[in-house]
Amino acid sequence: MPELGRPVLAWLDPKPGERILDLGCGDGALTSELARSGAAVVGIDASPSQIEAARARGLDARVMDAAALAFEAEFDAVFSNAALHWMADRTSVLAGTARALKPGGRLVAEMGGKGNIDRVLRAILAVLAERGCDGRPALPWLFPDPDDQAAALARAGFRVARMEHFERPTDLDCTMTDWLEIFAPAFVRLLPEADRETFFTEVSARLEPELFDPGRGVWWVDYVRLRFEAVKT
Ligand code: BEZ
Repeated sequence: MPELGRPVLAWLDPKPGERILDLGCGDGALTSELARSGAAVVGIDASPSQIEAARARGLDARVMDAAALAFEAEFDAVFSNAALHWMADRTSVLAGTARALKPGGRLVAEMGGKGNIDRVLRAILAVLAERGCDGRPALPWLFPDPDDQAAALARAGFRVARMEHFERPTDLDCTMTDWLEIFAPAFVRLLPEADRETFFTEVSARLEPELFDPGRGVWWVDYVRLRFEAVKT
């Protein structure tokens, strides 16, 4: 959904001639917009298929682990949208990001913040608990609160210039079951084979009173965002 990335792109305010790293660039939809500003952009992502899609857009895109970035003081800015919450080793990611930036360079990012998809998570954990399973150790995401993220940034050598934590309920262009299949497969693996097929439909049924708008026939997700700009000191 590149249009949802536009506000954080506006915070980045890329300039022609700047060299910018897009951390977790996915298929490059937003990276292409970034490149249209005239900046020289490099995208990295851990997924080879996503990088293939980004390269098909003509982008300089590389398969790379964000926790082991291979760049030294070469970027004016690092940008990241909807990717940092997938990266469990935050310390290594932020240390590598600081290393990749020139002195005074900026990190501008948006990720899931504390409270993100709380209703969805509650439903997932409840359905798992009914089957005798504790889903909490399998949580694949980090949704920090502002103080915690600011402290992690400071430890990595950044000064926070601005940070916002806000709710952004978002309509889906698919069903809740489709969304869960794409984004939450980690939880299904906890279940015995026989229970797997019905898991997402059960979670979806539990969420329907809260997250399905029958008037419009649309599912939505209770996203909470953490958006920040931090400067390498
Ligand atoms: C998000 O906040 O963008 C997100 C969180 C979990 C799964 C998918 C997306």
